[in-house]
Amino acid sequence: MRSRLLSVARALRADARITVMTGAGVSAASGVPTFRGADGLWKGFRLEDLATPDAFARSPHRVWEWYDWRRQALAGCLPNRAHHVLASWSLRFPRFRLITQNVDGLHERAGAADVLRLHGSIWDVRCWNRCTASPDQWRDDTVPFPVLPPPCPHCGGPLRPGVVWFGEMLDRDVVDRCLDATCCDVFFTVGTSALVHPAAGFLDHARRHGAMTVEVNPEVTPATSVVDTAISERAELVLPELDAALGAHPLALSTARLRLEPLLPKDVEAAHRLWTHRDVRRYLWDDRIIPRGTAEEVARASATDFARYRFGLWLVYAREEARTPVGFCGLRADGVGAGPQLLFGLYPKHWGQGLAQEASRGVLAHAFETLRLPRVIGAADAPNERSVRTLAALGMRFERRAGHDGLDTLFYSTEGRPPSGR
Ligand code: APR
Repeated sequence: MRSRLLSVARALRADARITVMTGAGVSAASGVPTFRGADGLWKGFRLEDLATPDAFARSPHRVWEWYDWRRQALAGCLPNRAHHVLASWSLRFPRFRLITQNVDGLHERAGAADVLRLHGSIWDVRCWNRCTASPDQWRDDTVPFPVLPPPCPHCGGPLRPGVVWFGEMLDRDVVDRCLDATCCDVFFTVGTSALVHPAAGFLDHARRHGAMTVEVNPEVTPATSVVDTAISERAELVLPELDAALGAHPLALSTARLRLEPLLPKDVEAAHRLWTHRDVRRYLWDDRIIPRGTAEEVARASATDFARYRFGLWLVYAREEARTPVGFCGLRADGVGAGPQLLFGLYPKHWGQGLAQEASRGVLAHAFETLRLPRVIGAADAPNERSVRTLAALGMRFERRAGHDGLDTLFYSTEGRPPSGR
């Protein structure tokens, strides 16, 4: 398996067009049952009784019992390592596309951007009567629903799940975008029995467009004999191994005493810790450096923009303190007003140990060498002797004046790469 993984890893170049199509198997390790197979969801049920418009017309209550039960089960599930790797690839590779047949929302919860959801979402609902007062569909996370079927808040008629049932048309726009995504360099089919169309046909499309094709599935499927590389193992093992074979994230930075790791959506917990820091919140939000929002929203916004190299946050770890960040560094390529901004915030107890300099140098080197930014600006509240020394050591020009709320602030900038900005 190792040599196959390495040959796939070699194809995952930074600029490669990579498309991954997933099915129920990718969520198996999160405790979500698959559809077919020994303990599959369809075991003991007839899909005609539960997942068709006719079934709903006959008994909305019965259909909703099944969906409400699945929603309750899903509410207790977390994304697994396969979801996390795919979410990080959606940031790492600018030309990455993710197609899923799953309705569980776990790719999104892991932070994947722009997921093409072929079969809709179990977290969406629609008015069965399509009443004119209600939107086409909307998200409703209520678990469990107190009444089944839940009533439409606009007309009182029954709501239906926002999934695509057997016998229903798929969203044409989504299908077109999926077909477009099959024009790629590497196409993965992960954790799907490859039986249900049109998803099953995307593999052929990709082959016709000359893509290298890869299957990740512990069982044999109709795709196994067709793909260039079949990896007969579980997604939650294969994808992290493949990710490790890719080497360090290109945006991970290291300095002599620090590791700077890009803030990825899986780091929401760490983001939370940072966000509870009053100064961090005020600085990032009040200066409109990032949009106001919850830690999850901000991590997602950061991550999405990050992929376009416009805005990024790094968690800063001291090498010896592997788990807890000592602070963060941020960079915005089109800072409000004056241009690219660098921000750094280390918890005060770490100031004066030279860590702020080191973290900032790492980010500055990235700004000038990788992002090729012409200029970096920033501001630091409540300056003191140490922050002044830090900026001077970085070769920054700086000026002390009143910032927001009239607070004493150091505004700093560098025109081109500062002489000691390394
Ligand atoms: N890693 C990778 N693959 C796995 C894992 C795992 N840990 N566990 C199971 N699998 C594989 C199984 O071997 C199987 O081939 O996942 C596949 C799941 O297949 P299905 O249950 O048929 O699910 P899926 O292919 O997503 O079904 C497609 O059919 O019922 C409809 O609308 C439903 O979206 C679904 C569609």
